[in-house]
Amino acid sequence: MADISVKIFDMELENPVMPAAGPTVKDGQAAHEAKEGGAGAIVTKTISVEAADVPRPNMAQTKSGFMNSELWSELSPKQWLEKEYPEVVKTELPVIAGIGYSADEIKKLAKQVEPFADALELSTHYLGDDTSPVVESIKAAKSVVDIPVMVKLSPQVDITTFAEAAEEAGADGIVLINSFGPTLDIDLKTGKPLMGSEDGYGWLSGEAIFSLALRCVYQAVAAVDIPVIAVGGISSGEDAVKMIMAGAEAVQVCTEAIINGAHVYGRIAEEIDKYLEKNGYSNLEEIRGLAQNNSPEEANFKTIPPTVDEEACIGCGICVKSCVYNAIEINGDNIAVIDQDSCEGCGLCITRCDFDALRL
Ligand SMILES: Cc1cc2nc3c(=O)[nH]c(=O)nc-3n(C[C@H](O)[C@H](O)[C@H](O)COP(=O)(O)O)c2cc1C
Repeated sequence: MADISVKIFDMELENPVMPAAGPTVKDGQAAHEAKEGGAGAIVTKTISVEAADVPRPNMAQTKSGFMNSELWSELSPKQWLEKEYPEVVKTELPVIAGIGYSADEIKKLAKQVEPFADALELSTHYLGDDTSPVVESIKAAKSVVDIPVMVKLSPQVDITTFAEAAEEAGADGIVLINSFGPTLDIDLKTGKPLMGSEDGYGWLSGEAIFSLALRCVYQAVAAVDIPVIAVGGISSGEDAVKMIMAGAEAVQVCTEAIINGAHVYGRIAEEIDKYLEKNGYSNLEEIRGLAQNNSPEEANFKTIPPTVDEEACIGCGICVKSCVYNAIEINGDNIAVIDQDSCEGCGLCITRCDFDALRL
């Protein structure tokens, strides 16, 4: 077995997979389920100074991914402080407590939450260009607590600018990304928006936003020296490995756990372990940030047709169907053949092949 433990600040995690703020960590009971499911730490649902009044319906599986219009916790801070946080602490896992949303609200809550948490995660859900709401939130929290303060960013801000501003304001870590939007889907039976929110809009999460999250994590890691925790569309060990290769310290999972249950944390951790073992790595340090040093310095404009692995190709023809340059045929031996003159080197067929038979 590889060593998949991580240390972030003073928190020692047996594995780098934790829930993200959302309904799967909506109370103390849910935190215990996350632990049983194999989470390496607990992140709690964002709370604010008052319980949220949440529109319904607020979650949907749509063509383009998972949509939600949930807000922060529907439980009052009083209930969290008296009942839920003490229950979360009993999991004996490191606890990252989510609080939001304005600097004033964060200042009020941070000190009260501190006894139950190893670190804070500030959610601002801020989408504009001005960094000050994020900076002010960090400063507000840092002025009242001694535990590490992380800030969670939306993908819809300039990541480098906001990550640098957060670090400069004293943030100890960055978590990204929050869900993407607003988005819309419509119920064909009623003609009404699927979400029960005022404008009918929701926010996208899950696999649809993975590559957006990966780019944001990659960019944040390049910009700052503080730890970055990745969240957004992670549903497998391979996704988590990519995030760690981009430089993330650890990963959070929300939508995959909503859809498939709390055991996904343990499954993803196991898959990370398997990836490391299979590829000859003994710990996460050996892959962390690997992609940061591997990006091409310049764009490539040369056409390089792929080669076909004749042992692996079964002649299924998926590559033929999606070759917009008509450069692929299946020959009499049921093997794909690439016409070197027509191939434009777009690379699509390589990623469409289910049998790993096409390579650059
Ligand atoms: C139903 C739902 C509720 C969420 N609630 C919160 C929240 O309270 N605070 C927060 O910072 N993010 C919240 N998020 C965002 C997630 O923590 C996460 O950043 C986002 O969904 C991307 O991760 P995923 O693709 O693994 O879901 C919520 C997401 C969903 C789907």
